Amino acid sequence: MGSYYNAVKVNIGSIEVVENILNDLEPKPSKVLLLTRGGDFSKSQAMHILSKCLGGFEVEKLELEISNPDVEDLYSYFQQVKAFNYQCIVGIGGGSVLDLAKSLAALKGMEIDSIADLRTVIEEKVYKTNQNIIPWVGIPTTSGTGSEVTCWATIWDRANSVKLSIDSESIYANTAIIDPSLTRSLPTRLTASTALDALCHATESYWSKNSNEISRVYALEAIKRIVLNIEKVVNQPNDITVRKEIALGSLYAGLAFSNTRTTASHSISYPLTLELGIDHGIAASLTLAKVMELNFEAITEKDKLLHAFGVKNCQEVQTFIEHIHRISGFSSRLKDYNANLEIIDVIASNAFTKGRMDNNPIAFTKHDVTNILMSIY
Ligand SMILES: [Fe+2]
Repeated sequence: MGSYYNAVKVNIGSIEVVENILNDLEPKPSKVLLLTRGGDFSKSQAMHILSKCLGGFEVEKLELEISNPDVEDLYSYFQQVKAFNYQCIVGIGGGSVLDLAKSLAALKGMEIDSIADLRTVIEEKVYKTNQNIIPWVGIPTTSGTGSEVTCWATIWDRANSVKLSIDSESIYANTAIIDPSLTRSLPTRLTASTALDALCHATESYWSKNSNEISRVYALEAIKRIVLNIEKVVNQPNDITVRKEIALGSLYAGLAFSNTRTTASHSISYPLTLELGIDHGIAASLTLAKVMELNFEAITEKDKLLHAFGVKNCQEVQTFIEHIHRISGFSSRLKDYNANLEIIDVIASNAFTKGRMDNNPIAFTKHDVTNILMSIY
């Protein structure tokens, strides 16, 4: 039951196809904004190939030196590139780069003169009426966020301790290029946390109130691939076959939750990240098994979910996730992230993100969330 829609063309292969993708856009762009992550990326083989492919275009490069951009960062980047009248954006990087590419595509040509203005544009979704939205191409260099196939971008608002979202079906990428070789040099912790993020996307999508027969097929396929390969990718990071399995798992998870959104585990993860600085994928995975246990009776075809995880019950999912945390250098206990009872109470109060918590198959109270948090304290 239900309907499925995703506007992104997906190209699984090598980044070299970017040249043809840009040449095929109508109208063909002459000015391309290239967003990359900072650090040593400019010296990478991927950047070398990309520079060659973009040789026929006028390119302005913007290097993102931060992760999890907030509304102030977005405003600063928006101002920085405004004068270069780009007609297309290519974003190559992790979730932060792709979310920024998507946001700048959504805001293109808008009159925004202050951070307060931008906050209003985002909160009141004024960008939905923007007539100048431009196409963007997403090239993920991590396997996890799924941002290349979803139509929303996370923009933090640290000044107000909330997560904002730019969200519209008009801002799907024109094309996503999935090139697993780009993930080969990812450090262990990032490999594990992004893969766990994708595992949560797929699992939460599966039991989401908005799941449908198509999204559930993608979700189960994602879970199987990630569960089978996550330990291998941590132990054999250079094995391109394993990297490809995780990249496909992440892509399928993205295709699943692009239509369903996430649920309670993601909703609780946002204050865990804001208050305790826990990496996004770890923060979401900390509560996944407990949320599964509480949701269990409300899950459609729950036997298929357990089968995809290769387990008999939710406790075994908890054991599996704790094992992945351990081998990749993370703790599964909030105490180890400097939590205390006062912070737990703040996190429980701020765990009710609109569009996420209300998408969970059963309703949680603050008391339920506190119990979930105390189970991993
Ligand atoms: Fe996520």
